Amino acid sequence: MPRCLIVPIRLMLWTVFITISVIAGIAFGPFLLPLISDTRKTDMANQQLIAYGKELLINTPYFLGPNGRIAKISNGMSCGNCHLDAGTRSFGNSFFATASTYPKYRARSGTVETVEKRINDCFERSLNGQGLDPGSKEMKALVAYIHSVGNSATPEMRENALIKPPEFLDRPASKEAGKLAYKNKCSGCHGENGQGLFDTNSDKWVNPPIWGENSYNNGAGFYRVSLLAGFIKATMPFGAVNGATQLSNEEAWDIAAYINSMPRPEMQLNDDWPEISQKPFDYPYGPYSDNFTQEEHKYGPFKPILQAQQARVKK
Ligand code: HEC
Ligand code: HEC
Repeated sequence: MPRCLIVPIRLMLWTVFITISVIAGIAFGPFLLPLISDTRKTDMANQQLIAYGKELLINTPYFLGPNGRIAKISNGMSCGNCHLDAGTRSFGNSFFATASTYPKYRARSGTVETVEKRINDCFERSLNGQGLDPGSKEMKALVAYIHSVGNSATPEMRENALIKPPEFLDRPASKEAGKLAYKNKCSGCHGENGQGLFDTNSDKWVNPPIWGENSYNNGAGFYRVSLLAGFIKATMPFGAVNGATQLSNEEAWDIAAYINSMPRPEMQLNDDWPEISQKPFDYPYGPYSDNFTQEEHKYGPFKPILQAQQARVKK
């Protein structure tokens, strides 16, 4: 067949095919559509919600930061800066155990907390902002995503979900030693002044701030030295993964002590830990139900505090 005929014939065949498809669609569509079961539609809507939740978690500032498209309720950091690999990294503050453990009693508030309340805790403290309306699409999406991570986790993943504090030292964590180690191992990315590295083009932190006005506030989990030390030991310098960690226990505790000795935003904490005997060993604000000082509760040594706590429980 001459080449010049092939193209028009193809075009004609396509036109016929598309016309038949459209007619068939109009004729039979109304009968077929209900057959696409409702569960499939719900599944699809749920998948979309989960995907939106993941997006919110990774690109929090785009939606909810200081220039957020949906609301301006947080400090510009992303949830994913602290919940690594979007909350799917063992020991990296993952969400593997969240679906199976919430709602749960938390001594910080002295109440049984829903996962929505826990998420808003991170907005108010780790993101130094305000919580989302629990009924909002954004909250539903975050919950859907976080639950999807937990629902697909194995028992072993759930076991290793949360941050594990490094082995305790026999001395207080040292801000001075931490300052030096921070300079050598962290400041290249997070800056000499903990200020991080911001990219104005993408309106995002390349390396998030770890102290100062744009960082988590003094009510956040990381303001407890054991949680910060456990997190950085397992994950930092960025690229380190648990099993191939790059910090010694000493370095992890000392650097965490140094970071948390630097200034950061403060929130009102009067309602936290209504039962003071339930304050964690490393909660840096009194009053306490034991005789250790605020300084000791902040930097350690923690073994004596834990031993005293255990002795009290046994009595
Ligand atoms: C500055 C770091 C930081 C940021 C940013 C952050 N979080 Fe967290 N988040 C934490 C820490 C620390 C914990 C407590 C971990 C622990 O107790 O072992 C936590 C705990 C949680 C938990 C409870 C997990 C569980 O299974 O107990 C949820 C849910 C959560 N965060 C959601 C979020 C969401 C959603 C965002 C973003 C809006 C966010 N976090 C931002 C540090 C952060
Ligand atoms: C190569 C660059 C790099 C180095 C070096 C590095 N970090 Fe990070 N750090 C990052 C990045 C990037 C993130 C955010 C991770 C993400 O969003 O997935 C981060 C997140 C963090 C966070 C949680 C988020 C926040 O801002 O509070 C802390 C805390 C932290 N780093 C501490 C440290 C410490 C301590 C060291 C030194 C031991 C260190 N980092 C070394 C790049 C780095």
